[in-house]
Amino acid sequence: MQVANKVALVTGSGKGLGKAFAGALLQRGARVCISDVDPKTLQTTYDEYTSQYGRENVCSIPCDVTVESDLKDVFSKTRGELKGLDIVVNNAGIANEAMWDKMVDINLKGVIRGTLLAMDAMKTVNGGKGGVIVNVASMAGILPVAHVPAYSAAKHGVVAYTRSWAKNPESTDNNIRMVSLCPAYAKTDILKMDKGAAHGEVLVEESFDKLGIMSVDTVVEAFLKILDDSDNHGKALSVTKMKGMAYV
Ligand SMILES: NC(=O)c1ccc[n+]([C@@H]2O[C@H](COP(=O)([O-])OP(=O)(O)OC[C@H]3O[C@@H](n4cnc5c(N)ncnc54)[C@H](O)[C@@H]3O)[C@@H](O)[C@H]2O)c1
Repeated sequence: MQVANKVALVTGSGKGLGKAFAGALLQRGARVCISDVDPKTLQTTYDEYTSQYGRENVCSIPCDVTVESDLKDVFSKTRGELKGLDIVVNNAGIANEAMWDKMVDINLKGVIRGTLLAMDAMKTVNGGKGGVIVNVASMAGILPVAHVPAYSAAKHGVVAYTRSWAKNPESTDNNIRMVSLCPAYAKTDILKMDKGAAHGEVLVEESFDKLGIMSVDTVVEAFLKILDDSDNHGKALSVTKMKGMAYV
C-alpha cells in the first residue's frame, strides 16, 4: 500500500511503538490521528508531530480503548477531521498480570472493538474504500510465555481473531486486509514491569536474556512491511532479534 495521502488512526500512540508507527506514517506522507488514554504523553507527541509535519496532517483525540463511546468518537472525529480512513492500527496495550481482567479488556477486547469500528468505516458496502487493519499482538500471541499467561492468552486471541476475519468474505469482499504484528521484546516502557506484574521475576530476566531486546526501529520496519505486502491478509508477522521477520 502507498502510504502517502492515506489517513491512519493509531491507538495508544502517545508513546512507545504506537508513537513510532504514527511517526513513520507521517514521515511517508499520511495524515494521522494519534490517540491515547494518557493525555500528557498524547499532548507531548501531538506538539512534536505538529511542529514536524504540520497541524493539517495530525489530529489528537484522547481515547480509552476499553470505552466503546471513546473509540466511536475517535473514529468519527478522525474521518471528519482528516477526511477518510485507510489504515487502523489497534496498538494500545499493557502488561500487568495483577490486573489481568483490565489487561484482557485493553489487549484483546480493545482490538476487537477497534477492528469492528474500522471495518464499519472502511467497508465498501458502507461507502468506504476498504483499507488495512494492523492488530498489534506479540510473539506471546504465537508462543506460550510462562511469566505472563494472561497477556499471552490475550495476544493469542488477537492473532486468532485476525486470522478468523480473513477467512470471512465480509473482509475480502469489502477490500479490507488485516494482519497481526507479533514482535518479541522491544525497548519501550512496557518492559519496566511493576512488582507483581509478572509471575516470577527470575523468569522475566531469563526471558529478556534469552530473546534479547530489539530497537523500536526494528518493529517499525516490520510494521511498514505489513503495509507494503499485499498478500498477507490474516497472517501474523513475527519479529525477533534472532530470526528477523517471518509470516507465520
Ligand atoms: N515493547 C514490547 O516489547 C512489545 C512486544 C510485543 C508487543 N507489544 C505490544 O505493543 C503495543 C504497544 O506497546 P509499547 O511497547 O509501545 O508499550 P508502551 O507502554 O510504551 O505504550 C503503550 C501505550 O498504550 C497506552 N494505553 C494503555 N492503556 C490504554 C487504553 N486503555 N486505551 C488507550 N491507550 C492505552 C499507554 O498510555 C501507552 O501510551 C502493546 O499492544 C504491546 O502489548 C510490545
